[in-house]
Amino acid sequence: MSTNRRDFLAAAAAGLVAAGVRPARPGQAPVPWAPLRILILGGTGFIGPYQVQYAIDRGHTVTLFNRGKTNPQLFPSVEKLTGDRAGDLESLKGRRWDLVIDNSATDPQWVELSANLLQKAVGRYCFVSTRSVYFDTSRVPMTIDAPVCTPENTSVEAGKPLPYCLAKALSEKTVARYFGDRTLIVRPSLIVGPGDLTDRFTYWPVRIERGGEVLAPGDGTDPVQVIDARDLSEWMIRLAELGTTGTYNALGPRTPRLFSELLHGIKAVTTSDATFTWVDADFLAAHQVLPYQEMPVWMPARNGRQGFGRFDISREVGLGLTFRPLAVTARDTLDYYRAQPGDRQEKLRAGISPGREAEVLAAWHNRPR
Ligand SMILES: NC(=O)c1ccc[n+]([C@@H]2O[C@H](COP(=O)([O-])OP(=O)(O)OC[C@H]3O[C@@H](n4cnc5c(N)ncnc54)[C@H](OP(=O)(O)O)[C@@H]3O)[C@@H](O)[C@H]2O)c1
Repeated sequence: MSTNRRDFLAAAAAGLVAAGVRPARPGQAPVPWAPLRILILGGTGFIGPYQVQYAIDRGHTVTLFNRGKTNPQLFPSVEKLTGDRAGDLESLKGRRWDLVIDNSATDPQWVELSANLLQKAVGRYCFVSTRSVYFDTSRVPMTIDAPVCTPENTSVEAGKPLPYCLAKALSEKTVARYFGDRTLIVRPSLIVGPGDLTDRFTYWPVRIERGGEVLAPGDGTDPVQVIDARDLSEWMIRLAELGTTGTYNALGPRTPRLFSELLHGIKAVTTSDATFTWVDADFLAAHQVLPYQEMPVWMPARNGRQGFGRFDISREVGLGLTFRPLAVTARDTLDYYRAQPGDRQEKLRAGISPGREAEVLAAWHNRPR
Protein backbone atom coordinates (compact mmCIF):
# COMPACT_ATOMS: atom_id res chain seq x y z
CA MET A 1 0.00 0.00 0.00
CA SER A 2 1.39 3.43 -0.91
CA THR A 3 2.02 5.88 1.89
CA ASN A 4 -0.50 8.30 0.38
CA ARG A 5 -3.09 5.56 0.24
CA ARG A 6 -2.35 4.81 3.90
CA ASP A 7 -2.80 8.51 4.78
CA PHE A 8 -6.05 8.55 2.86
CA LEU A 9 -7.44 5.43 4.52
CA ALA A 10 -6.46 6.81 7.92
CA ALA A 11 -8.26 10.05 7.11
CA ALA A 12 -11.29 8.11 5.85
CA ALA A 13 -11.31 5.99 8.99
CA ALA A 14 -11.27 9.21 10.98
CA GLY A 15 -14.38 10.28 9.09
CA LEU A 16 -12.57 13.12 7.31
CA VAL A 17 -13.40 12.11 3.75
CA ALA A 18 -16.04 10.48 1.66
CA ALA A 19 -13.89 8.83 -0.99
CA GLY A 20 -14.48 10.22 -4.43
CA VAL A 21 -17.74 11.96 -3.63
CA ARG A 22 -17.87 15.73 -3.68
CA PRO A 23 -20.38 17.00 -1.11
CA ALA A 24 -23.49 18.16 -2.94
CA ARG A 25 -25.09 21.57 -2.81
CA PRO A 26 -28.59 21.52 -1.34
CA GLY A 27 -30.96 19.79 -3.75
CA GLN A 28 -28.17 18.37 -5.93
CA ALA A 29 -26.84 14.83 -6.15
CA PRO A 30 -23.25 14.26 -4.94
CA VAL A 31 -20.75 14.61 -7.78
CA PRO A 32 -18.06 11.94 -8.11
CA TRP A 33 -14.47 12.87 -8.89
CA ALA A 34 -11.50 10.76 -9.80
CA PRO A 35 -8.51 10.76 -7.44
CA LEU A 36 -5.79 12.90 -9.01
CA ARG A 37 -2.01 12.65 -9.04
CA ILE A 38 -0.95 16.16 -8.07
CA LEU A 39 2.59 17.54 -8.23
CA ILE A 40 3.16 20.65 -6.10
CA LEU A 41 6.18 22.82 -6.87
CA GLY A 42 6.82 24.12 -3.35
CA GLY A 43 4.25 22.86 -0.89
CA THR A 44 5.91 23.51 2.46
CA GLY A 45 5.58 27.27 2.94
CA PHE A 46 2.36 29.19 3.66
CA ILE A 47 -0.36 28.02 1.26
CA GLY A 48 1.30 24.76 0.22
CA PRO A 49 0.62 22.80 3.42
CA TYR A 50 -3.09 23.67 3.27
CA GLN A 51 -3.26 22.42 -0.33
CA VAL A 52 -1.42 19.23 0.57
CA GLN A 53 -3.60 18.38 3.56
CA TYR A 54 -6.86 19.15 1.75
CA ALA A 55 -5.82 17.12 -1.30
CA ILE A 56 -4.83 14.13 0.85
CA ASP A 57 -8.05 14.36 2.82
CA ARG A 58 -10.00 14.15 -0.45
CA GLY A 59 -8.16 11.08 -1.65
CA HIS A 60 -5.63 12.54 -4.05
CA THR A 61 -2.00 11.50 -4.32
CA VAL A 62 0.45 14.32 -3.76
CA THR A 63 4.11 14.69 -4.70
CA LEU A 64 6.15 17.68 -3.51
CA PHE A 65 9.12 19.19 -5.32
CA ASN A 66 11.39 21.61 -3.43
CA ARG A 67 14.91 22.00 -2.05
CA GLY A 68 14.05 20.41 1.29
CA LYS A 69 14.90 23.60 3.20
CA THR A 70 11.53 24.98 4.28
CA ASN A 71 9.67 22.96 6.95
CA PRO A 72 11.21 19.62 5.84
CA GLN A 73 9.49 17.89 8.78
CA LEU A 74 6.04 18.36 7.21
CA PHE A 75 4.12 15.45 5.66
CA PRO A 76 6.53 12.56 6.41
CA SER A 77 4.40 10.13 4.38
CA VAL A 78 4.05 12.30 1.26
CA GLU A 79 6.46 11.69 -1.61
CA LYS A 80 9.11 14.43 -1.79
CA LEU A 81 11.33 15.08 -4.76
CA THR A 82 14.38 17.22 -4.16
CA GLY A 83 15.62 19.76 -6.67
CA ASP A 84 15.90 23.46 -7.41
CA ARG A 85 13.59 25.53 -9.59
CA ALA A 86 16.63 27.54 -10.69
CA GLY A 87 18.12 24.64 -12.65
CA ASP A 88 17.99 21.18 -11.06
CA LEU A 89 14.78 19.47 -12.23
CA GLU A 90 16.30 15.99 -12.66
CA SER A 91 13.99 14.35 -10.11
CA LEU A 92 10.91 15.36 -12.15
CA LYS A 93 12.05 13.53 -15.28
CA GLY A 94 10.25 10.38 -16.41
CA ARG A 95 7.23 10.92 -14.15
CA ARG A 96 3.57 11.70 -14.95
CA TRP A 97 0.93 13.68 -13.05
CA ASP A 98 -2.61 14.86 -13.77
CA LEU A 99 -1.90 18.36 -12.51
CA VAL A 100 1.01 20.49 -11.39
CA ILE A 101 0.44 23.35 -8.94
CA ASP A 102 3.22 25.91 -9.21
CA ASN A 103 3.31 27.84 -5.92
CA SER A 104 6.93 28.77 -5.75
CA ALA A 105 7.75 30.78 -8.90
CA THR A 106 8.46 34.49 -8.86
CA ASP A 107 10.92 34.17 -11.75
CA PRO A 108 9.65 33.50 -15.29
CA GLN A 109 12.84 31.54 -16.00
CA TRP A 110 11.82 29.00 -13.33
CA VAL A 111 8.47 28.64 -15.08
CA GLU A 112 10.17 28.30 -18.46
CA LEU A 113 12.19 25.34 -17.13
CA SER A 114 9.31 23.56 -15.38
CA ALA A 115 6.64 24.16 -18.04
CA ASN A 116 8.98 23.04 -20.80
CA LEU A 117 9.94 19.86 -18.92
CA LEU A 118 6.40 18.99 -17.81
CA GLN A 119 4.34 19.89 -20.87
CA LYS A 120 4.06 16.27 -22.07
CA ALA A 121 4.12 14.65 -18.63
CA VAL A 122 1.37 16.61 -16.90
CA GLY A 123 -2.25 17.19 -17.84
CA ARG A 124 -2.76 20.74 -16.55
CA TYR A 125 -0.54 23.47 -15.12
CA CYS A 126 -1.96 25.59 -12.31
CA PHE A 127 0.08 28.71 -11.66
CA VAL A 128 -0.32 30.76 -8.46
CA SER A 129 -0.05 34.30 -9.71
CA THR A 130 -1.15 37.48 -7.91
CA ARG A 131 -3.48 40.47 -8.01
CA SER A 132 -0.26 42.48 -8.37
CA VAL A 133 -0.13 41.50 -12.07
CA TYR A 134 -2.70 44.24 -12.78
CA PHE A 135 -1.01 47.30 -14.20
CA ASP A 136 -4.17 49.30 -13.75
CA THR A 137 -6.60 48.81 -10.86
CA SER A 138 -8.72 51.87 -11.61
CA ARG A 139 -11.70 49.96 -13.03
CA VAL A 140 -14.77 49.39 -10.91
CA PRO A 141 -15.38 46.55 -10.73
CA MET A 142 -12.09 44.89 -11.59
CA THR A 143 -12.17 41.71 -13.69
CA ILE A 144 -9.50 39.46 -15.16
CA ASP A 145 -9.41 41.33 -18.47
CA ALA A 146 -7.95 44.52 -16.91
CA PRO A 147 -4.48 45.37 -18.27
CA VAL A 148 -1.52 43.56 -16.71
CA CYS A 149 2.16 44.50 -16.46
CA THR A 150 4.19 44.13 -19.66
CA PRO A 151 7.78 45.03 -20.59
CA GLU A 152 6.28 48.04 -22.42
CA ASN A 153 4.42 49.53 -19.45
CA THR A 154 6.75 48.47 -16.61
CA SER A 155 10.34 49.66 -16.28
CA VAL A 156 13.06 47.20 -15.39
CA GLU A 157 16.26 48.31 -13.67
CA ALA A 158 19.42 46.85 -15.18
CA GLY A 159 21.02 44.21 -12.95
CA LYS A 160 17.98 44.04 -10.62
CA PRO A 161 15.33 41.27 -10.45
CA LEU A 162 12.20 41.94 -12.49
CA PRO A 163 9.49 43.89 -10.63
CA TYR A 164 7.09 41.42 -8.99
CA CYS A 165 4.12 42.38 -11.19
CA LEU A 166 6.10 41.84 -14.38
CA ALA A 167 7.75 38.63 -13.16
CA LYS A 168 4.37 37.10 -12.37
CA ALA A 169 2.71 38.40 -15.57
CA LEU A 170 5.53 36.97 -17.71
CA SER A 171 5.33 33.70 -15.78
CA GLU A 172 1.61 33.47 -16.60
CA LYS A 173 2.40 33.95 -20.28
CA THR A 174 5.13 31.31 -20.14
CA VAL A 175 2.75 28.71 -18.71
CA ALA A 176 0.18 29.52 -21.40
CA ARG A 177 2.82 29.21 -24.15
CA TYR A 178 3.55 25.60 -23.11
CA PHE A 179 0.17 24.46 -21.80
CA GLY A 180 -2.29 26.48 -23.92
CA ASP A 181 -5.86 25.63 -22.95
CA ARG A 182 -4.55 23.29 -20.23
CA THR A 183 -3.51 26.34 -18.17
CA LEU A 184 -5.15 27.39 -14.88
CA ILE A 185 -4.08 30.73 -13.44
CA VAL A 186 -5.19 31.94 -10.01
CA ARG A 187 -4.53 35.55 -8.98
CA PRO A 188 -4.87 35.95 -5.19
CA SER A 189 -5.01 39.24 -3.35
CA LEU A 190 -3.18 39.50 -0.05
CA ILE A 191 -3.18 35.98 1.40
CA VAL A 192 -3.91 36.00 5.12
CA GLY A 193 -4.42 33.68 8.06
CA PRO A 194 -2.43 31.34 10.28
CA GLY A 195 1.04 30.61 8.91
CA ASP A 196 1.54 34.02 7.30
CA LEU A 197 5.13 35.09 7.96
CA THR A 198 4.69 38.65 6.68
CA ASP A 199 2.35 39.89 9.47
CA ARG A 200 0.55 42.23 7.07
CA PHE A 201 -2.98 41.17 8.04
CA THR A 202 -1.70 39.91 11.41
CA TYR A 203 -0.76 43.47 12.35
CA TRP A 204 -4.43 44.37 12.79
CA PRO A 205 -5.60 41.58 15.14
CA VAL A 206 -2.42 41.92 17.21
CA ARG A 207 -2.64 45.72 17.36
CA ILE A 208 -6.35 45.72 18.17
CA GLU A 209 -5.93 43.07 20.86
CA ARG A 210 -3.30 45.30 22.51
CA GLY A 211 -6.04 47.88 23.00
CA GLY A 212 -6.05 51.64 23.52
CA GLU A 213 -6.34 54.24 20.78
CA VAL A 214 -5.65 52.63 17.38
CA LEU A 215 -4.58 54.69 14.36
CA ALA A 216 -7.07 53.70 11.65
CA PRO A 217 -6.46 54.81 8.07
CA GLY A 218 -8.77 57.00 5.96
CA ASP A 219 -12.40 57.53 6.82
CA GLY A 220 -13.29 53.85 7.14
CA THR A 221 -15.04 53.59 3.77
CA ASP A 222 -12.19 52.20 1.64
CA PRO A 223 -13.15 48.75 0.32
CA VAL A 224 -10.99 45.75 1.16
CA GLN A 225 -10.77 42.23 -0.24
CA VAL A 226 -8.32 39.58 0.98
CA ILE A 227 -8.22 35.78 0.96
CA ASP A 228 -7.68 33.31 3.78
CA ALA A 229 -4.88 30.91 2.78
CA ARG A 230 -7.18 27.99 3.54
CA ASP A 231 -9.99 29.27 1.33
CA LEU A 232 -7.52 29.78 -1.51
CA SER A 233 -5.80 26.42 -1.12
CA GLU A 234 -8.98 24.40 -0.77
CA TRP A 235 -10.59 26.12 -3.76
CA MET A 236 -7.56 25.37 -5.91
CA ILE A 237 -7.86 21.66 -5.17
CA ARG A 238 -11.59 21.76 -5.97
CA LEU A 239 -10.81 23.55 -9.27
CA ALA A 240 -8.38 20.74 -10.01
CA GLU A 241 -11.10 18.16 -9.36
CA LEU A 242 -13.44 20.00 -11.75
CA GLY A 243 -10.75 20.09 -14.46
CA THR A 244 -11.12 23.88 -14.58
CA THR A 245 -8.81 25.94 -16.80
CA GLY A 246 -8.61 29.68 -17.46
CA THR A 247 -7.69 32.72 -15.35
CA TYR A 248 -9.39 33.66 -12.07
CA ASN A 249 -9.05 36.15 -9.27
CA ALA A 250 -9.00 34.83 -5.72
CA LEU A 251 -10.17 37.31 -3.11
CA GLY A 252 -13.25 38.31 -1.24
CA PRO A 253 -15.76 38.66 0.12
CA ARG A 254 -18.00 39.11 -2.89
CA THR A 255 -19.33 42.43 -1.58
CA PRO A 256 -16.14 44.13 -0.47
CA ARG A 257 -15.89 45.03 3.21
CA LEU A 258 -15.35 48.60 4.27
CA PHE A 259 -12.11 49.08 6.17
CA SER A 260 -14.14 50.05 9.24
CA GLU A 261 -16.02 46.72 8.98
CA LEU A 262 -12.69 44.91 8.82
CA LEU A 263 -11.33 46.56 11.96
CA HIS A 264 -14.57 46.29 13.95
CA GLY A 265 -14.96 42.68 12.79
CA ILE A 266 -11.49 41.88 14.10
CA LYS A 267 -12.17 43.68 17.38
CA ALA A 268 -15.27 41.53 17.85
CA VAL A 269 -13.13 38.40 18.31
CA THR A 270 -11.14 39.99 21.12
CA THR A 271 -12.02 41.44 24.52
CA SER A 272 -9.98 44.52 23.70
CA ASP A 273 -10.89 48.07 24.76
CA ALA A 274 -9.46 49.41 21.46
CA THR A 275 -10.95 52.58 20.00
CA PHE A 276 -10.35 53.64 16.40
CA THR A 277 -9.24 57.14 15.42
CA TRP A 278 -9.79 57.50 11.68
CA VAL A 279 -7.08 59.68 10.20
CA ASP A 280 -7.50 61.32 6.84
CA ALA A 281 -5.57 59.75 3.92
CA ASP A 282 -3.94 63.08 2.93
CA PHE A 283 -2.81 63.68 6.50
CA LEU A 284 -1.28 60.20 6.60
CA ALA A 285 0.48 60.78 3.27
CA ALA A 286 1.88 64.09 4.55
CA HIS A 287 3.27 62.21 7.57
CA GLN A 288 4.78 59.43 5.40
CA VAL A 289 2.38 56.79 6.69
CA LEU A 290 2.06 54.72 3.57
CA PRO A 291 -0.83 52.49 2.47
CA TYR A 292 0.05 48.79 2.49
CA GLN A 293 3.26 49.50 4.41
CA GLU A 294 2.81 51.33 7.73
CA MET A 295 -0.94 50.73 7.29
CA PRO A 296 -0.98 47.17 5.95
CA VAL A 297 -3.94 45.79 3.98
CA TRP A 298 -5.28 49.36 3.45
CA MET A 299 -5.35 50.86 -0.04
CA PRO A 300 -7.28 54.12 -0.41
CA ALA A 301 -9.72 53.87 -3.31
CA ARG A 302 -8.32 56.83 -5.25
CA ASN A 303 -5.39 57.83 -7.48
CA GLY A 304 -6.05 55.05 -9.98
CA ARG A 305 -6.66 52.42 -7.26
CA GLN A 306 -10.45 52.69 -7.18
CA GLY A 307 -10.85 49.02 -8.13
CA PHE A 308 -8.09 47.58 -5.92
CA GLY A 309 -10.60 46.30 -3.37
CA ARG A 310 -13.57 46.02 -5.71
CA PHE A 311 -13.19 42.88 -7.79
CA ASP A 312 -16.23 41.25 -9.34
CA ILE A 313 -15.79 37.61 -8.38
CA SER A 314 -19.11 36.23 -9.67
CA ARG A 315 -17.31 33.73 -11.96
CA GLU A 316 -15.11 32.54 -9.13
CA VAL A 317 -18.00 32.14 -6.69
CA GLY A 318 -19.85 30.24 -9.43
CA LEU A 319 -16.87 27.88 -9.51
CA GLY A 320 -17.02 27.19 -5.80
CA LEU A 321 -14.84 29.90 -4.20
CA THR A 322 -16.01 30.20 -0.59
CA PHE A 323 -14.92 32.33 2.34
CA ARG A 324 -14.43 31.65 6.00
CA PRO A 325 -15.99 34.31 8.20
CA LEU A 326 -13.62 37.15 9.08
CA ALA A 327 -14.02 36.18 12.73
CA VAL A 328 -12.51 32.74 12.02
CA THR A 329 -9.57 34.18 10.09
CA ALA A 330 -8.90 36.86 12.72
CA ARG A 331 -9.14 34.50 15.69
CA ASP A 332 -7.04 31.76 14.08
CA THR A 333 -4.42 34.33 13.05
CA LEU A 334 -4.18 35.61 16.63
CA ASP A 335 -3.97 32.09 18.01
CA TYR A 336 -1.22 31.25 15.49
CA TYR A 337 0.72 34.39 16.38
CA ARG A 338 0.41 33.81 20.12
CA ALA A 339 1.75 30.27 19.67
CA GLN A 340 5.03 31.61 18.18
CA PRO A 341 8.20 31.93 20.30
CA GLY A 342 8.45 35.15 22.34
CA ASP A 343 11.23 36.70 20.25
CA ARG A 344 9.15 36.17 17.08
CA GLN A 345 6.22 37.95 18.72
CA GLU A 346 8.28 40.85 20.04
CA LYS A 347 8.24 42.87 16.85
CA LEU A 348 5.61 42.62 14.14
CA ARG A 349 7.09 42.42 10.67
CA ALA A 350 4.54 44.83 9.24
CA GLY A 351 2.68 47.93 10.31
CA ILE A 352 3.54 51.17 12.05
CA SER A 353 5.58 50.93 15.27
CA PRO A 354 3.86 51.86 18.56
CA GLY A 355 6.07 54.96 18.91
CA ARG A 356 5.31 56.27 15.42
CA GLU A 357 1.63 55.50 15.84
CA ALA A 358 1.52 57.62 19.03
CA GLU A 359 3.38 60.49 17.25
CA VAL A 360 1.00 60.49 14.29
CA LEU A 361 -2.07 60.34 16.55
CA ALA A 362 -0.74 63.27 18.60
CA ALA A 363 -0.11 65.29 15.42
CA TRP A 364 -3.64 64.48 14.22
CA HIS A 365 -5.22 65.62 17.48
CA ASN A 366 -3.14 68.84 17.47
CA ARG A 367 -3.62 69.70 13.79
CA PRO A 368 -4.74 73.22 12.95
CA ARG A 369 -8.47 73.23 12.22
N1 LIG B 1 1.61 36.10 0.45
C1 LIG B 1 0.73 36.78 -0.27
O1 LIG B 1 -0.01 37.64 0.24
C2 LIG B 1 0.60 36.50 -1.74
C3 LIG B 1 -0.32 37.22 -2.49
C4 LIG B 1 -0.52 36.90 -3.83
C5 LIG B 1 0.23 35.87 -4.40
N2 LIG B 1 1.15 35.21 -3.67
C6 LIG B 1 1.88 34.12 -4.31
O2 LIG B 1 1.48 32.94 -3.63
C7 LIG B 1 2.55 32.00 -3.62
C8 LIG B 1 2.68 31.63 -2.17
O3 LIG B 1 3.71 30.77 -1.96
P1 LIG B 1 3.90 29.97 -0.59
O4 LIG B 1 5.20 30.38 0.01
O5 LIG B 1 2.73 30.06 0.24
O6 LIG B 1 4.03 28.54 -1.26
P2 LIG B 1 4.46 27.18 -0.64
O7 LIG B 1 4.40 26.17 -1.69
O8 LIG B 1 3.72 26.90 0.60
O9 LIG B 1 6.00 27.47 -0.20
C9 LIG B 1 7.03 27.90 -1.02
C10 LIG B 1 7.83 26.66 -1.43
O10 LIG B 1 8.77 26.93 -2.43
C11 LIG B 1 9.91 26.11 -2.22
N3 LIG B 1 11.03 26.72 -2.88
C12 LIG B 1 11.56 27.95 -2.64
N4 LIG B 1 12.61 28.17 -3.45
C13 LIG B 1 12.76 27.06 -4.21
C14 LIG B 1 13.66 26.67 -5.23
N5 LIG B 1 14.68 27.48 -5.64
N6 LIG B 1 13.50 25.46 -5.81
C15 LIG B 1 12.53 24.61 -5.40
N7 LIG B 1 11.62 24.93 -4.45
C16 LIG B 1 11.74 26.14 -3.86
C17 LIG B 1 10.03 26.06 -0.71
O11 LIG B 1 10.71 24.92 -0.24
P3 LIG B 1 12.33 24.91 -0.07
O12 LIG B 1 12.72 26.19 0.60
O13 LIG B 1 12.57 23.71 0.76
O14 LIG B 1 12.89 24.79 -1.44
C18 LIG B 1 8.55 25.97 -0.30
O15 LIG B 1 8.12 24.63 -0.29
C19 LIG B 1 3.73 32.69 -4.26
O16 LIG B 1 3.80 32.32 -5.62
C20 LIG B 1 3.38 34.19 -4.19
O17 LIG B 1 3.94 34.92 -5.25
C21 LIG B 1 1.37 35.50 -2.35
